[in-house]
Amino acid sequence: MKVLVIGSGGRDHAIAWKFRNSPRVSRVYVAHGNGGIARTAECVNLKTIEEMADFARKERIDLTFVGPEKPLSAGIADLFQARGLPIIGPDSKASRLESSKCDAKTMMRELGIPVPEFENFSDPDKARDYIRSVGYPVVVKADGLAAGKGSLVCDSVGEAEEAVRQIMEERVFGDAGQRVDIEKRLYGRELSFFCFTDGYTIVPMVAAQDYKRARENDEGKNTGGMGSYSPHPWLDDSLVKTIMSKVAEPLINGVREKYGIVYRGVLYLGLMLVEEEKEVIPYVLEINIRLGDPEAQVILPRLRTDLVDISEAILTGRLSEIKPEWDPAYRLCLIATSGKTKGKKGWYKGYPDRYKIGLPIEGVENIDPSCLVFHSGTEVDSSGRLVTTGGRVLCIVSSGSTLGEARQKGLAEMEKVGFEGIYYRKDIGLE
Ligand code: GLY
Repeated sequence: MKVLVIGSGGRDHAIAWKFRNSPRVSRVYVAHGNGGIARTAECVNLKTIEEMADFARKERIDLTFVGPEKPLSAGIADLFQARGLPIIGPDSKASRLESSKCDAKTMMRELGIPVPEFENFSDPDKARDYIRSVGYPVVVKADGLAAGKGSLVCDSVGEAEEAVRQIMEERVFGDAGQRVDIEKRLYGRELSFFCFTDGYTIVPMVAAQDYKRARENDEGKNTGGMGSYSPHPWLDDSLVKTIMSKVAEPLINGVREKYGIVYRGVLYLGLMLVEEEKEVIPYVLEINIRLGDPEAQVILPRLRTDLVDISEAILTGRLSEIKPEWDPAYRLCLIATSGKTKGKKGWYKGYPDRYKIGLPIEGVENIDPSCLVFHSGTEVDSSGRLVTTGGRVLCIVSSGSTLGEARQKGLAEMEKVGFEGIYYRKDIGLE
């Protein structure tokens, strides 16, 4: 079987690696991949979703699996389905659950799913009036896609007003800031929960802890994710039942019955677990229509079941026949990012602010083979050197029978990697 993976980040590298390990797969292509993915699969430089569909037709691709949200929102699943090409990922209508934070929150409120108190605004003055009126800390979210950086967690009224100014007036996230979702800031434990679904059957996966803030102790700006681990210490059978009955099932069944959205693919629930009167309430902070990055890097290595079998079951509506099996051992992911460096005109602060690229990366070949290395922002330059091309550069995924063991291993292996300004959080998995 030939598989095409769409994406070029660490998550997409992990997806390609998972398919590469399937006895049912003979070739894995990735569009468009990166310098590290090219060591796992054949990278193809396809730019538009039309080029991807043409390639899938010409190469007789048996299965296409989409990593990132952008091609899904652009309608890649609709296009492939219209041409009879098998693809895993929600269609453009379902993609609104991620590409519009405002619409997703409104739908969830209508479906009775736990969400923080919120209001949506397209007028910045009205947004500011609301912030002044509520009397509690808020999170201001750009409505549209912002590469995981569009949620501004605010400690004061002034910070929230500034967030509105940046998102809606300065348009730091472009048109994603035409509207904002302003929600009550909740305090609890975050958990990224994943399901496979064919639109009718919903199969829970496992959960992961993601670390979104740039700096240790959860300080600094929001990023696409600085590290992760799985299993999540709070997720037991009872919590899985709660999340399925209060969130996943009402959501998938509700959007189908009320809005005509048949959601097929991976569902990612960004949850805040809040203890209220001895009960844990899973509040939905965000819905994503895909695997997480860097959650996929710790979840897919735990998945013992063949992803091809799961994908086929989604495509044929037989997901009820699948019971995924999971390795109980811990996986921990440390992300090496492009940190502070000196440029010709001063300092680059480093990811998620400005950073230098094109920096040679040393030591990847010395990493212990018991660990996995997934690349996010790398390429092989004209002299054959592996160099940086992005803010998140690469990750090391270590394993252990305890979280502490996985953490020690990951930190020791990361010491072997070097590039100018390398920065990674050393508190990932420090409970
Ligand atoms: N880890 C956050 C995301 O994938 O959106």
